[in-house]
Amino acid sequence: MRILAISGSLRAKSSSTAVLLALQSLAPAGTSVELYEGLATLPHFNPDVEEVSLPPEAAALRARVESCSAVLICSPEYAHGVPGSLKNALDWLVGGHEMVGKPVAVLNPSAHSTFAHAQLLETLKTMSVALVPYASITLARRPASGDGRDILADPALADPLREALLYVVQFAERLSA
Ligand SMILES: Cc1cc2nc3c(=O)[nH]c(=O)nc-3n(C[C@H](O)[C@H](O)[C@H](O)COP(=O)(O)O)c2cc1C
Repeated sequence: MRILAISGSLRAKSSSTAVLLALQSLAPAGTSVELYEGLATLPHFNPDVEEVSLPPEAAALRARVESCSAVLICSPEYAHGVPGSLKNALDWLVGGHEMVGKPVAVLNPSAHSTFAHAQLLETLKTMSVALVPYASITLARRPASGDGRDILADPALADPLREALLYVVQFAERLSA
């Protein structure tokens, strides 16, 4: 099973991306977590452009979503909101069919980030994704390193993430059965 992981941060040493990198290591046998790396190069969403011809970057994002069995999102909160670059990516996905019914989990890297997490869940609900029950969790503390190694070394972070990923895999398996 292939799972697409989208980080809402463009920072090189992002704690959000670190969560997704850790999930790559925590994935059960037969499951791969693939990091989406096109967020920074997506053009700004414009319905006029979408109507005429989908930009290749947006088409590639839709294809990545379509080819994966589930999507994981991990994002920081900026000024009590979802980072513009992540919301931009979601806006490019709204007009396609790829996210409809797709199993999605939102992993919140910080207990302080309550607004962005709630906004993401609301946007995704509006996009008719299949939010995976119990998998959209908030971590006990924000990971410190950018490579996910501290997450793997700390059961308080790694265990709930491993469990959330299992929920996603089982949910996606049931959906495709
Ligand atoms: C412009 C800006 C606004 C921020 N606003 C919030 C906020 O509203 N709530 C919050 O919990 N953290 C806020 N933060 C802190 C970031 O969420 C934090 O730096 C986080 O580590 C960034 O995520 P990353 O490590 O994945 O890049 C803000 C940071 C920046 C730079």
